[in-house]
Amino acid sequence: MSRRAIAIALICFSTSALALPPTAKDNRIAIQIGPSERNQVLYEMREFLHSLFNMHNALASKDMKAVAVSTKPMAGMLDRIPNNIKDKLPEEFTQMAIAMNEALTVMARDAETKADMSLTQSQMAELMTYCSGCHDTYRFEILPARVRH
Ligand code: HEC
Repeated sequence: MSRRAIAIALICFSTSALALPPTAKDNRIAIQIGPSERNQVLYEMREFLHSLFNMHNALASKDMKAVAVSTKPMAGMLDRIPNNIKDKLPEEFTQMAIAMNEALTVMARDAETKADMSLTQSQMAELMTYCSGCHDTYRFEILPARVRH
Protein backbone atom coordinates (compact mmCIF):
# COMPACT_ATOMS: atom_id res chain seq x y z
CA MET A 1 0.00 0.00 0.00
CA SER A 2 1.34 3.45 -0.81
CA ARG A 3 2.16 5.84 2.02
CA ARG A 4 -0.62 8.19 0.98
CA ALA A 5 -3.14 5.32 0.84
CA ILE A 6 -2.16 4.27 4.36
CA ALA A 7 -2.54 7.88 5.55
CA ILE A 8 -6.00 8.19 3.98
CA ALA A 9 -7.06 4.85 5.48
CA LEU A 10 -5.84 6.08 8.88
CA ILE A 11 -7.78 9.35 8.61
CA CYS A 12 -10.96 7.41 7.80
CA PHE A 13 -10.31 5.01 10.65
CA SER A 14 -9.57 7.78 13.15
CA THR A 15 -12.60 9.81 12.12
CA SER A 16 -14.93 6.83 12.45
CA ALA A 17 -13.37 6.01 15.81
CA LEU A 18 -14.06 9.58 16.98
CA ALA A 19 -17.71 9.22 16.00
CA LEU A 20 -18.17 6.43 18.54
CA PRO A 21 -19.55 7.37 21.95
CA PRO A 22 -16.95 7.41 24.72
CA THR A 23 -16.80 3.93 26.14
CA ALA A 24 -15.16 2.24 29.09
CA LYS A 25 -14.33 -0.76 26.94
CA ASP A 26 -10.96 -0.72 25.20
CA ASN A 27 -11.36 -2.53 21.89
CA ARG A 28 -7.81 -1.92 20.69
CA ILE A 29 -5.56 -4.84 19.81
CA ALA A 30 -3.35 -5.73 22.79
CA ILE A 31 0.37 -6.16 22.19
CA GLN A 32 1.91 -8.23 24.97
CA ILE A 33 5.20 -6.81 26.11
CA GLY A 34 7.45 -6.73 29.22
CA PRO A 35 7.45 -3.66 31.52
CA SER A 36 10.95 -2.43 30.62
CA GLU A 37 10.22 -2.95 26.90
CA ARG A 38 7.06 -0.92 27.28
CA ASN A 39 9.05 1.81 29.05
CA GLN A 40 11.51 1.92 26.19
CA VAL A 41 8.78 2.39 23.56
CA LEU A 42 6.90 4.93 25.69
CA TYR A 43 10.13 6.90 26.13
CA GLU A 44 10.37 7.14 22.32
CA MET A 45 6.73 8.21 22.21
CA ARG A 46 7.30 11.06 24.64
CA GLU A 47 10.29 12.10 22.54
CA PHE A 48 7.87 12.29 19.58
CA LEU A 49 5.88 14.90 21.46
CA HIS A 50 9.04 16.89 22.23
CA SER A 51 9.96 16.79 18.55
CA LEU A 52 6.47 17.88 17.51
CA PHE A 53 6.82 20.84 19.89
CA ASN A 54 10.19 21.74 18.33
CA MET A 55 8.77 21.39 14.82
CA HIS A 56 5.83 23.69 15.56
CA ASN A 57 8.10 26.21 17.22
CA ALA A 58 10.48 26.19 14.25
CA LEU A 59 7.59 26.56 11.83
CA ALA A 60 6.16 29.48 13.80
CA SER A 61 9.53 31.21 13.55
CA LYS A 62 9.64 30.41 9.81
CA ASP A 63 12.92 28.62 10.37
CA MET A 64 12.76 25.74 7.86
CA LYS A 65 16.28 24.56 8.62
CA ALA A 66 15.24 24.08 12.26
CA VAL A 67 12.10 22.25 11.08
CA ALA A 68 14.35 19.77 9.28
CA VAL A 69 16.68 19.44 12.25
CA SER A 70 13.83 18.73 14.68
CA THR A 71 12.16 16.24 12.31
CA LYS A 72 15.20 14.01 11.79
CA PRO A 73 15.48 12.41 15.27
CA MET A 74 11.87 11.19 14.99
CA ALA A 75 12.68 9.26 11.83
CA GLY A 76 15.12 6.92 13.61
CA MET A 77 12.68 5.39 16.10
CA LEU A 78 12.68 1.88 14.63
CA ASP A 79 16.48 1.82 14.53
CA ARG A 80 16.61 2.63 18.23
CA ILE A 81 14.17 -0.11 19.24
CA PRO A 82 16.06 -3.37 19.97
CA ASN A 83 15.20 -6.56 18.07
CA ASN A 84 13.77 -8.37 21.10
CA ILE A 85 11.04 -5.71 21.23
CA LYS A 86 10.55 -5.57 17.46
CA ASP A 87 9.93 -9.34 17.47
CA LYS A 88 6.87 -8.79 19.66
CA LEU A 89 5.32 -6.07 17.51
CA PRO A 90 2.68 -7.17 14.98
CA GLU A 91 3.57 -6.83 11.31
CA GLU A 92 0.93 -4.09 10.75
CA PHE A 93 2.29 -2.09 13.70
CA THR A 94 5.78 -2.22 12.20
CA GLN A 95 4.41 -1.29 8.77
CA MET A 96 2.72 1.77 10.24
CA ALA A 97 5.96 2.77 11.98
CA ILE A 98 7.89 2.31 8.71
CA ALA A 99 5.35 4.41 6.79
CA MET A 100 5.58 7.15 9.41
CA ASN A 101 9.34 6.96 9.17
CA GLU A 102 9.19 7.49 5.41
CA ALA A 103 6.81 10.42 5.84
CA LEU A 104 9.26 11.99 8.30
CA THR A 105 12.23 11.47 5.99
CA VAL A 106 10.38 13.17 3.13
CA MET A 107 9.26 15.95 5.45
CA ALA A 108 12.80 16.66 6.69
CA ARG A 109 14.15 16.60 3.12
CA ASP A 110 11.41 18.91 1.77
CA ALA A 111 11.80 21.35 4.65
CA GLU A 112 15.49 21.62 3.80
CA THR A 113 15.24 21.71 0.00
CA LYS A 114 11.85 23.33 -0.69
CA ALA A 115 11.35 25.45 2.45
CA ASP A 116 7.61 25.58 1.74
CA MET A 117 5.76 26.26 4.99
CA SER A 118 2.35 25.21 3.78
CA LEU A 119 3.75 21.94 2.38
CA THR A 120 5.34 21.25 5.79
CA GLN A 121 2.06 22.02 7.50
CA SER A 122 0.14 19.54 5.37
CA GLN A 123 2.89 16.95 5.92
CA MET A 124 2.56 17.57 9.66
CA ALA A 125 -1.15 16.81 9.38
CA GLU A 126 -0.38 13.61 7.48
CA LEU A 127 2.19 12.71 10.13
CA MET A 128 -0.40 12.98 12.88
CA THR A 129 -2.65 10.46 11.14
CA TYR A 130 0.04 7.88 11.91
CA CYS A 131 0.07 8.85 15.59
CA SER A 132 -3.68 8.63 15.99
CA GLY A 133 -4.04 5.68 13.60
CA CYS A 134 -1.68 3.54 15.62
CA HIS A 135 -3.04 4.71 18.99
CA ASP A 136 -6.59 3.97 17.85
CA THR A 137 -5.57 0.44 16.86
CA TYR A 138 -3.09 -0.84 19.48
CA ARG A 139 -2.47 -0.85 23.18
CA PHE A 140 0.24 -2.44 25.27
CA GLU A 141 -0.48 -5.14 27.78
CA ILE A 142 2.18 -6.12 30.32
CA LEU A 143 3.01 -9.82 30.12
CA PRO A 144 2.60 -11.67 33.44
CA ALA A 145 6.07 -12.32 34.97
CA ARG A 146 5.93 -16.11 34.50
CA VAL A 147 5.54 -15.94 30.70
CA ARG A 148 8.13 -13.21 30.13
CA HIS A 149 11.24 -14.11 28.19
C1 HEC B 1 3.17 2.25 15.12
C2 HEC B 1 2.42 2.65 16.28
C3 HEC B 1 2.56 4.01 16.88
C4 HEC B 1 2.80 5.20 16.24
C5 HEC B 1 3.00 5.44 14.74
C6 HEC B 1 2.81 6.22 17.25
N1 HEC B 1 2.59 5.67 18.47
FE1 HEC B 1 2.52 6.66 20.25
N2 HEC B 1 2.06 4.92 21.23
C7 HEC B 1 1.92 3.68 20.63
C8 HEC B 1 1.50 2.71 21.63
C9 HEC B 1 1.21 1.24 21.37
C10 HEC B 1 1.40 3.40 22.85
C11 HEC B 1 0.98 2.83 24.20
C12 HEC B 1 -0.53 2.79 24.27
C13 HEC B 1 -0.99 2.22 25.60
O1 HEC B 1 -1.03 2.98 26.54
O2 HEC B 1 -1.24 1.04 25.68
C14 HEC B 1 1.77 4.79 22.57
C15 HEC B 1 1.83 5.80 23.51
C16 HEC B 1 2.14 7.12 23.24
C17 HEC B 1 2.25 8.17 24.25
C18 HEC B 1 2.10 7.98 25.75
C19 HEC B 1 3.49 7.92 26.36
C20 HEC B 1 3.48 7.55 27.84
O3 HEC B 1 4.50 7.81 28.49
O4 HEC B 1 2.49 7.01 28.35
C21 HEC B 1 2.54 9.33 23.59
C22 HEC B 1 2.75 10.72 24.20
C23 HEC B 1 2.62 9.02 22.17
N3 HEC B 1 2.38 7.67 22.00
C24 HEC B 1 2.90 9.96 21.19
C25 HEC B 1 2.96 9.66 19.84
C26 HEC B 1 3.10 10.66 18.79
C27 HEC B 1 3.17 12.15 19.00
C28 HEC B 1 3.12 9.97 17.61
C29 HEC B 1 3.25 10.51 16.21
C30 HEC B 1 4.24 11.47 15.92
C31 HEC B 1 3.01 8.55 17.93
N4 HEC B 1 2.91 8.41 19.28
C32 HEC B 1 3.02 7.56 16.99
C33 HEC B 1 2.12 3.39 19.30
C34 HEC B 1 2.40 4.32 18.30
